[in-house]
Amino acid sequence: MSRFKLLFILLALTAVFLYAADDEDKKGTIPYSQFEKPETCASCHVDIYQQWTQAMMSQAYTHHWDEIEYFDLAVAHAEKVPELKGPVDGCNGCHSPLAYLAGDVTPPRPSENSRANESVSCDLCHTITGIHGDVPFNFSYIVNPGRKKYGAKEGLVSPHHDTEFNKIFTQAEFCGNCHNEKNPYGIWVKSTQLEWKEGPYSEDGVPCHQCHMPKALGRNAKMAKEDMVAQHLFNGAHDPGKLAGAIELRMHPVEREVEYDAVVEIKVQLFNGKAGHKIPTGSVEDRIMWLHVTATDADGKKYHIPVDKKGFEGEEYTIGSTELAYKDMGVPKGLPDFKGVERDGVPVGDRIFRMPYFDPEGVMTIMQWNTKTLGVDYRIGPRETKIETFTWQLPENIAIGKVTFTAQLNYQKLVKPVADFLGVPEEESEILPINSATTWIEVYD
Ligand code: HEC
Ligand code: HEC
Ligand code: HEC
Ligand code: HEC
Ligand code: HEC
Repeated sequence: MSRFKLLFILLALTAVFLYAADDEDKKGTIPYSQFEKPETCASCHVDIYQQWTQAMMSQAYTHHWDEIEYFDLAVAHAEKVPELKGPVDGCNGCHSPLAYLAGDVTPPRPSENSRANESVSCDLCHTITGIHGDVPFNFSYIVNPGRKKYGAKEGLVSPHHDTEFNKIFTQAEFCGNCHNEKNPYGIWVKSTQLEWKEGPYSEDGVPCHQCHMPKALGRNAKMAKEDMVAQHLFNGAHDPGKLAGAIELRMHPVEREVEYDAVVEIKVQLFNGKAGHKIPTGSVEDRIMWLHVTATDADGKKYHIPVDKKGFEGEEYTIGSTELAYKDMGVPKGLPDFKGVERDGVPVGDRIFRMPYFDPEGVMTIMQWNTKTLGVDYRIGPRETKIETFTWQLPENIAIGKVTFTAQLNYQKLVKPVADFLGVPEEESEILPINSATTWIEVYD
């Protein structure tokens, strides 16, 4: 064997070791007792604590859909496929970091009220001192619990703890520790910070904090002086107000006045003016956004208009259909002949903005750990505008006069057929309006 070959093999082995080190070496290294409880912080940081309890951050382990997916799909899957045990334990590296660090995996169910329920807690975040490696992903945070709490301000004094400024608290990479995720197949199944990094907000120096932890005048602790304080809102897709208007919508006809038998063309512009990443982002395997266009003629008769196809590869996954998918849920659910459930649950022909995840058999999946490939990325990037066209042959019996068109853009955190199959509470699959637009044409004889 040549010396180069040997060197290469050694380097490759080191790389494998380092990759494993990122997610595995923390498990079971720090007992729960090293971390303070959020209730301890609450006695002084009153507002921040109440904000946090309303954010998904405090529910990352206890939230119903998290419990259902973790226990009924992920843990159940790892019981059937033992190689999945490591990655499935790893869910907790982000959702219940204290349990993961304590080696308390699989943690007790949320109903047992264990410390796993603290989810992404104050003391976890405020004892982070850095990132393993260059690119943050898969709970790559370095954590150093103790008397010292790290933050974005210099020289603060507290009776309960020491404080220290650490630049990482001002950086998007801090969030990327948990908001980027690579699965066992090496697929980026979550990439919010990476999307941000290649977009305009990173270039403009606008980190996640400016939109998810905006600063406002107030007191960060009972005894503190007034100052600009980072609000711990962390509001995202679970806040209808955050979603509302995230995409701006306008539409117009190519021709305003048309004959009764004309073919009409409508254009819709969708502009992502509000998010620092793609929409949808994060749990992209679960989330969809879709555009529903209808026409109403002068007699009040309503018609649904399907979107024009553009002809790109994989486009069939971006247009509402009744096709079945998510067959791989049958494995953890113990249903060998499971055919899957409907892929979309939205009106046939509507445009869907999404990126499909495929299992090793090439069927769409919501089990991100079982994702071997990704399909076409038809989401709307930060400050990107997409145009959709709707070509419509006026129906024979159309009333003469004004025809009004309405475009409705909706969002769903979890595709409804999956939510219904798994018994996930309604609120996770409710239809959330993002925006709407209207235009009109005049039909003459
Ligand atoms: C007895 C009251 C008290 C308790 C309990 C307390 N803090 Fe503080 N904390 C303060 C005060 C006072 C400051 C300084 C505020 C200022 O001057 O702006 C502070 C500042 C901070 C800062 C800002 C540090 C910086 O440099 O930016 C962080 C972070 C922090 N506390 C986290 C925590 C966490 C986490 C807990 C619970 C584990 C906690 N605190 C418990 C009183 C307290
Ligand atoms: C997901 C991580 C995360 C969690 C959870 C979290 N914080 Fe923070 N906190 C931050 C970051 C990041 C900053 C700095 C934000 C900035 O300045 O832009 C911060 C800032 C602070 C500050 C200083 C605020 C200011 O601007 O004066 C205090 C105090 C604080 N946090 C306390 C807490 C307490 C108490 C909790 C729990 C109730 C908590 N944090 C939960 C990440 C977190
Ligand atoms: C310019 C403002 C802006 C910036 C910068 C920004 N976001 Fe967002 N974010 C939004 C808006 C608006 C939404 C709601 C629309 C949506 O869900 O995409 C959102 C949604 C989210 C969601 C919820 C997605 C879901 O489907 O549940 C997460 C998670 C998130 N952002 C994390 C981040 C992280 C991490 C960063 C930094 C790497 C970041 N955001 C930067 C505005 C921003
Ligand atoms: C220790 C891991 C961790 C860190 C660090 C972290 N997050 Fe999160 N974050 C999570 C998890 C896990 C969830 C999902 C909660 C759930 O299960 O719905 C979440 C949820 C969110 C949501 C809510 C999404 C929704 O669906 O409504 C937003 C917004 C968000 N994070 C923003 C941030 C920002 C901004 C930062 C950096 C300042 C950050 N996070 C740092 C783990 C983390
Ligand atoms: C690298 C960190 C990380 C790992 C590992 C991780 N998650 Fe998450 N998870 C997140 C973040 C961050 C979000 C929030 C994203 C968003 O809001 O779109 C999230 C969202 C979710 C959601 C959606 C929550 C909701 O309320 O809509 C579920 C369910 C979930 N994760 C389950 C799991 C399971 C099961 C595993 C393990 C197989 C896992 N996660 C592994 C970070 C992680």
